[in-house]
Amino acid sequence: MERSDLDGVMPIENASFPTPWPRNVFEEEIDRAFSDARVAVSPEGGEVLGYSVCWIVLDESHLLNIAVRPDVRGSGVGSALLRDCIRRGAMAGAGLIHLEVRAGNQAALRMYEKDGFAFQGIRRRYYTDTGEDAILLSRELRESDA
Ligand SMILES: CC(C)(COP(=O)(O)OP(=O)(O)OC[C@H]1O[C@@H](n2cnc3c(N)ncnc32)[C@H](O)[C@@H]1OP(=O)(O)O)[C@@H](O)C(=O)NCCC(=O)NCCS
Repeated sequence: MERSDLDGVMPIENASFPTPWPRNVFEEEIDRAFSDARVAVSPEGGEVLGYSVCWIVLDESHLLNIAVRPDVRGSGVGSALLRDCIRRGAMAGAGLIHLEVRAGNQAALRMYEKDGFAFQGIRRRYYTDTGEDAILLSRELRESDA
């Protein structure tokens, strides 16, 4: 992800979350050395179709954000971004990737489950905007993921 991607990223962010990240948070992530911010773009025009933000710190990767443009959801972009995040974490030497997801987010929960994430716990009323619980998931990273 580069600053020039943010005009494509922001409408997706705003359409995807009750409390979207503001633009300056993405700018900070782009500049942060240990943050791996990635975009999926269309093959033709380079339009932003989705993005992910992972922190890779020591031997752990933390997926902080992932979203896909609403009109192209269900066509594999989310899975591709997730696998990219898994691959890059493994390549950087991380042994684990973890994340939090809203308890009601069935699409994301299924995507993570399909890619081998396992339930680790619940943080009650973690999301202050809706009062939803967070489900904590994690997955081991192996050499074969790299
Ligand atoms: C979650 C999200 C990123 C998935 O992206 P996507 O491109 O639609 O996902 P994919 O097409 O790669 O689908 C991957 C898997 O997710 C699951 N899935 C995706 N959409 C689903 C839906 N609407 N209902 C149920 N499962 C769904 C399926 O298991 C699917 O695999 P399958 O097609 O083989 O059945 C997308 O729905 C999104 O941007 N949501 C809003 C932002 C968000 O919630 N981010 C996650 C925060 S933790």
